[in-house]
Amino acid sequence: NRIDLIGVPTDAGASCRGAALGPDDLRTAGLAERLAGLGYAVADLGDINVDRRLTAAAEIEALAIGASQAGYQSLENGARPVFLGGDHSISMGSVAGVARHCRDAGRPLFVLWFDAHGDFNTWSTTETGNIHGMSLARLCGEPGFANDAAWFAEVDPANVMILGARALDCEEAQLIEARGVQVVDMDAVRIAGVATPLRHFLDRVEAANGHLHLSLDVDAMDPSLAPGVGTTVPGGLTLAEGRLVMEMLHRSGRVGSLDLVELNPVLDRYGKSADLMVDLAARLFGEAATATRLARLPDLATA
Ligand code: ARG
Ligand code: MN
Ligand code: MN
Ligand code: MN
Repeated sequence: NRIDLIGVPTDAGASCRGAALGPDDLRTAGLAERLAGLGYAVADLGDINVDRRLTAAAEIEALAIGASQAGYQSLENGARPVFLGGDHSISMGSVAGVARHCRDAGRPLFVLWFDAHGDFNTWSTTETGNIHGMSLARLCGEPGFANDAAWFAEVDPANVMILGARALDCEEAQLIEARGVQVVDMDAVRIAGVATPLRHFLDRVEAANGHLHLSLDVDAMDPSLAPGVGTTVPGGLTLAEGRLVMEMLHRSGRVGSLDLVELNPVLDRYGKSADLMVDLAARLFGEAATATRLARLPDLATA
């Protein structure tokens, strides 16, 4: 029943500055208190800090190593790590640490990449050079990155689902397909809803006795709900859809680690996006989960 908050303040992977302020903004929005109010023992482990004079790429590497080690340790201690971004480049480290833990524990790792983007570019496909657009590709073992077995372990692309996508680059989309990553994009959501594909994914996690990592990029949500993001894309998930996803994940009992990324407080409006992230995280950990409401979820999913 323990949750460790691990701040990873960086915007070195993004095109605009500000996401480095994310961890403190999530703290200010009351994340620790909300989770503690649900009965968890919440420990804020503070921020992983690096020399801000490093180049962007070097800063990202240093933070990846730090996040990986902190996350691995948290899981080994029997807690659930919650990584506070920071742009999405932090997941290169957070998920790598989770993957190491799962490998050592002999448990298959599944990753739900909740995002408007695929973050599946490599140094050869990227159109922007922004490293936050490469995290998932690196985790899935694409070449061109300096991975070190001391802190890095791969994720099987067959165990990844991208949910909420609506802005994949052309070559990126081809690579995602070639690697067999499942994409539930916004067209699919508008046609079939979020519940059915998520139910199928969760059934697979359950059948494999897997560990599920949720990488929550707040830009999956519609920009009207989450304006505090450097890479907003119209046509995102509604509040009801976001909450339903979190409640289904909670009910599955499978989520063992979480990233909360891409919050840019400089672009936010009156803390709206930070509040939304805290709300989603609280639902993920069981807020508002009455027995009646939870019992209805499978029906919603199979309807
Ligand atoms: N695909 C674009 C790029 O490679 C956007 C990536 C946005 N990623 C994110 N984590 N917000 O630059
Ligand atoms: Mn474990
Ligand atoms: Mn992302
Ligand atoms: Mn994104």
